Amino acid sequence: MSVVEVIKNKAKSNIKKIVLPEGNEPRTVQASALIAKEGIAHIILLGDKREIEQVANETNTDLNGVEIIDPKTSDKSEEYANLLFELRKNRGMTIEEATNLTLNNTLYFGVLMVKNNDADGMVAGAINSTGNVLRPSLQVLKTAPGIKVVSSCFIMETNTPQYGQDGVLIFGDCAVMPNPDADELAAIAISSAETAKSLADLDPKVAMLSFSTKGSAKHEFVDKVVQATEKVKELKPDLKIDGELQADAALVKSVGELKSPGSSVAGNANVLIFPDLQAANIGYKLVQRLGNAIATGPIIQGLSKPVNDLSRGCSIEDIVNVVAITAVKAQ
Ligand code: ACO
Repeated sequence: MSVVEVIKNKAKSNIKKIVLPEGNEPRTVQASALIAKEGIAHIILLGDKREIEQVANETNTDLNGVEIIDPKTSDKSEEYANLLFELRKNRGMTIEEATNLTLNNTLYFGVLMVKNNDADGMVAGAINSTGNVLRPSLQVLKTAPGIKVVSSCFIMETNTPQYGQDGVLIFGDCAVMPNPDADELAAIAISSAETAKSLADLDPKVAMLSFSTKGSAKHEFVDKVVQATEKVKELKPDLKIDGELQADAALVKSVGELKSPGSSVAGNANVLIFPDLQAANIGYKLVQRLGNAIATGPIIQGLSKPVNDLSRGCSIEDIVNVVAITAVKAQ
């Protein structure tokens, strides 16, 4: 069974409420019907009811079991606007701005529902950029206790069972933090290991990637990775981690044994932490396209409640999968 099938089954075992703010977007409408039919989550679509029903008609979609809430007529809007104002007034937000965002920006209404425990998680991004999806979540939900930064990872299902755990690996952070410092990189590693365990059922073995292995090159870029590795060891002494490692030393047994002898990670890594967003984003797309791997994500990690982002090129199936991931994260 694929990792995603396992996640869908987990989602079905304890149904969560997931809000989809892009309520009249055709792929979102069709995915909602599938999710309701398969019993993966209770879906709330945000937007004008008539508009959403028209999209459902045009796409031959049965919205039985899917809830629709229009922020403009919801009796919760005033409560949410006050909540947003309270959360953001020290950043200069006025009550008028908070009311306007709550009524007219469904991404804000969605995260406010999650903040207020009226939904367990949110998924958006079929028509909004990653930044626009994440900003309201960062402002309203903030990071989970003890977590320094919000970041992301992908579950990579490759056709190379000799690497990772039967070909399954976690790559982080491929979507959020452009240039993490050493402490932030450490936080990315800890969150990615946690996601590896909770979502992909992996026993995390974390490789902190670089162009250097154990001092083979000297550069400030390498120093950052070394410092981040030390920080993780300090914060999570039980986590299996090694760095700095080149990708081959992380993945290939013979190279790992040669370059980092005695390491429990080198040659066996299943969580790969890239030094910055350029390397990570390029890296996952190369493996996905050239290696024909299934890339599931980005899975956002470190927020106090789960929110996930879709690619604007997403398929209906992608939306179903990301909703299942979000529902499991909410359990
Ligand atoms: N973790 C925790 N908090 C954060 C983070 C983070 N990673 N980033 C920003 N914040 C906080 C800020 O401190 C700020 O808090 P405050 O207002 O309470 O003081 C709040 O969030 C909003 O910050 P902004 O400065 O308005 O947000 P910013 O413009 O930095 O945007 C974002 C954050 C959207 C995550 C940005 O870093 C970004 O655009 N990242 C890249 C996204 C991207 O384009 N990815 C590649 C494509 S995705 C793909 O290919 C799969």
